[in-house]
Amino acid sequence: MIQIAVDGPAGSGKSTVAREVAKRLGIVYLDTGAMYRAVTYQTLIEKRSVQNAHDLEIIVEALELEVAPGQIWANGKNVTEAIRQPEISRNVSYVAMDAYVRKCMVDLQRKIAGTQSVIMDGRDIGTHVLPNAKFKFFLTATAEERAKRRQIELDKAGYSVDYKALVDEINERDRLDSEREVSPLKIADDAEIIDTTELTTDQVIDLILKKIAYTNE
Ligand code: DC
Repeated sequence: MIQIAVDGPAGSGKSTVAREVAKRLGIVYLDTGAMYRAVTYQTLIEKRSVQNAHDLEIIVEALELEVAPGQIWANGKNVTEAIRQPEISRNVSYVAMDAYVRKCMVDLQRKIAGTQSVIMDGRDIGTHVLPNAKFKFFLTATAEERAKRRQIELDKAGYSVDYKALVDEINERDRLDSEREVSPLKIADDAEIIDTTELTTDQVIDLILKKIAYTNE
């Protein structure tokens, strides 16, 4: 069994890259950010507060999450698209800060990785969820480049969002993700850092596949 960790800030290209690497290697891809987003979605539709630990505990205790490649269900409802709404992005860092939510998500992530080969993307995969992963990558890019990518993505999904507002939102999310007490966004000592600012998605995928093939020889 093989475990690959891909961490990095919002918009660094992790999900696109990890999904494609999974396909090429024929292993499972798990988007852990989608799990925190699904908890956020459920909290908001139940009109609870993302900043209240008790509310979050109630939500997560009752929440049944199901994941399949590229899809996620919350209590039986397919929320794959709904969790990409800007309102979820604005609230998810608060949910991801909660220690109990994190414990539940990490338990589930480890369970999935315990039975099959996986590539997982997130913020704490190499440092906390799978500290013994054979391969660890940390993807970065400037906030401006990441905002540009997010804008293209949101445009495609039919949301028009101001570029400057996206840069501010990305910087704020980086700050919240890096400064939180539980499992902050941090580079694992043994991770390979890939700055994707000037690279195409295909170039990043190739770099990762080469590294894996080389090490496995
Ligand atoms: O990658 P993303 O934008 O979908 O992540 C959504 C949020 O979840 C983001 O604020 C960081 C958080 N997250 C986390 O704390 N740990 C993870 N393993 C994955 C995401």
